[in-house]
Amino acid sequence: MKSQDEIIYLDHAATSPVAPEVTEVMLPWLRAGSVGNASSLHSLGRRARAAVEDARDQVAAALGITPLEVLFTSGGTEADNQAIKGLVWAAREAGRGTAIVTSAIEHPAVLEACEWLRDVEGHRLDIVGVGTDGRVDPEEMLEAVGPDTAVVSLMTANNELGTVQPVDLIGPALAERGVSFHSDTVQAFGKIPLDLHGWGITAAALSAHKFNGPTGVGVMTLRRDVDPHPVLHGGRQERGVRSGTLNVAGIVGLGAAAELARGRLADEGIRLTTLRDRLIEALTTLDGVTLNGHPTERLPNNVHVAVTGADAEATLLALDRAGIACSTGSACQSGAAQRSHVLDAVEAATDAAHLRFSLGLGTTEAHIDRCVAELTRLLVPATAGAI
Ligand SMILES: Cc1ncc(COP(=O)(O)O)c(C=O)c1O
Repeated sequence: MKSQDEIIYLDHAATSPVAPEVTEVMLPWLRAGSVGNASSLHSLGRRARAAVEDARDQVAAALGITPLEVLFTSGGTEADNQAIKGLVWAAREAGRGTAIVTSAIEHPAVLEACEWLRDVEGHRLDIVGVGTDGRVDPEEMLEAVGPDTAVVSLMTANNELGTVQPVDLIGPALAERGVSFHSDTVQAFGKIPLDLHGWGITAAALSAHKFNGPTGVGVMTLRRDVDPHPVLHGGRQERGVRSGTLNVAGIVGLGAAAELARGRLADEGIRLTTLRDRLIEALTTLDGVTLNGHPTERLPNNVHVAVTGADAEATLLALDRAGIACSTGSACQSGAAQRSHVLDAVEAATDAAHLRFSLGLGTTEAHIDRCVAELTRLLVPATAGAI
């Protein structure tokens, strides 16, 4: 097996390497003998609390929201579940309508939470389809919203195709109607500018391991005037919404990663877009290779292609042997090489391998060119020499 240093890592959307600056600030909280429950009143507890609050400030600054709106969770999955279930249950308790509207290409953390609410608890669920480019039609989505709608959930950017959704058009219209709007911003944060307040977003989800922070820690943003029902019951930490002893080391790492992402957003956006377009241009000149998702409304780090006539798993494994790490679908599904619901929703070709290359910190032009050369060698063996 190749060592980590020999592999060109183009799977940042699955998880991203922890930045050295992040490891650095986490280490003191992980060293043997370090203690500090952020809810304890003694000086060690207060020190831990101060570190958590500094991280909360960093996240709030990166998002342009207030620290009170930042609630720490165990990751994106928990944040999505807490937001959607919590908002629907709060609406039920208040005697308001509890219907849900979402899109067909949400991450399973959203889609399956919504389907569970429908199948187990009987809430009405409308799943709005997308075009072949992976975008929802804002009018169609808003038409699905009725007087009984408790929450609309639409991701800011899709984890597989990289398509960016028109949340900026949908959110303000929902705010006018007083409907809660949840957006999964797990893939978008650190890649494109977000305007949670301007877009009328009630609750959003972040996951640190997608922006060079540690795994197992995330954020649910929550508007100050909203009080969802908790999913986890316990010590009533985090505005009483999210119980559980805080993961101080993880939160400190998340805060540092958020600050880094904020500082790099503009430059990395330009740099990654240039690399992305270089990869798209080179790959789509190959016979049978076409781009999936939206040509322009896409994340700066995402390239998703269909390779006609190829087998997805075999191509991924051949690339892996050649030292290129990519993905055939979203990470959560890639263990079982199943066709994803996203590919079905955009009616992607069934006789093609669908590959996602996701770029990030450390990706260089040389990496892109190696990736193109290796895929060319695989797809055009007669002219380029078979592996
Ligand atoms: C769009 C999206 N939402 C949610 C998640 C889940 O986040 P986590 O891994 O932190 O549970 C992911 C992870 O792949 C994702 O891409």
